[in-house]
Amino acid sequence: MDKSKLDELNNRFQNQKPEDVIAWFLNEYDNKVALSSSLGAEDQVLTDMVLKIKSDARIFTLDTGRLFPETYDLIDRTNKKYNVKIEVLFPDFKQVEEMVNNKGINLFYESIENRKQCCHIRKIEPLKRVFQTLDAWICGLRAGQAVTRQNIRVVEWDDNNGLIKVNPLAHWSEKEVWDYIKENKVPYNPLHDKGFPSIGCLPCTRAIEPGEDVRAGRWWWENPESKECGLHKR
Ligand code: ADX
Ligand code: SF4
Repeated sequence: MDKSKLDELNNRFQNQKPEDVIAWFLNEYDNKVALSSSLGAEDQVLTDMVLKIKSDARIFTLDTGRLFPETYDLIDRTNKKYNVKIEVLFPDFKQVEEMVNNKGINLFYESIENRKQCCHIRKIEPLKRVFQTLDAWICGLRAGQAVTRQNIRVVEWDDNNGLIKVNPLAHWSEKEVWDYIKENKVPYNPLHDKGFPSIGCLPCTRAIEPGEDVRAGRWWWENPESKECGLHKR
């Protein structure tokens, strides 16, 4: 998609609701667009919106093998509530075995390089596989989440992966996310009520203290500037 088309879409969607953005992409791209869900609060909002518009829309999740038990339960609860099957993608077992047998099961604490390797094998490689079937992906990024996300737009060209990236909640606040969840009785991860605003893999996520940045509990031993797993490299 060229830059002028992107600008046109962003202008068109500027004052529209996330649902309108989603509806446009589902209509235009059909099964070539999918929601990428980590089962986090934003993604649960998007799941509810997406399925209310198109009950058989594609939703996938990357199962790193190191998720919280609460997240696995939420996959199941979400499938049951909406009568859907979220597509679950696994990493290549040979790559995982080689990595952990060489560098240790918890290699990510030892260096940024190790952490990025683990994220690459457990998330990026499976993501690349699903991208072969897609022209656009929908994500739950919000500008307010992190310094690395301040400048995101609703529609972007994902240069790393060569497809369109849609962030329908780009300009939503955390409060808007939670108001939507409550109003629509959207199932959510109980860890959110225990100090975990942002949830990734269990060994790489901790609860935050009041006043801390919402992503402070992700890879908490690293600098804020390096804290993207490669899914959303900018
Ligand atoms: S991350 O890059 O640090 O892990 P974050 O947890 O904030 O990202 O999630 C941002 C968006 O990336 C989510 O809203 C979702 O669209 C996508 N995403 C993150 N983790 C996953 C996952 N395990 N499976 C599918 N999509 C994911
Ligand atoms: Fe590995 Fe941690 Fe990345 Fe999960 S978040 S893939 S456990 S480094």
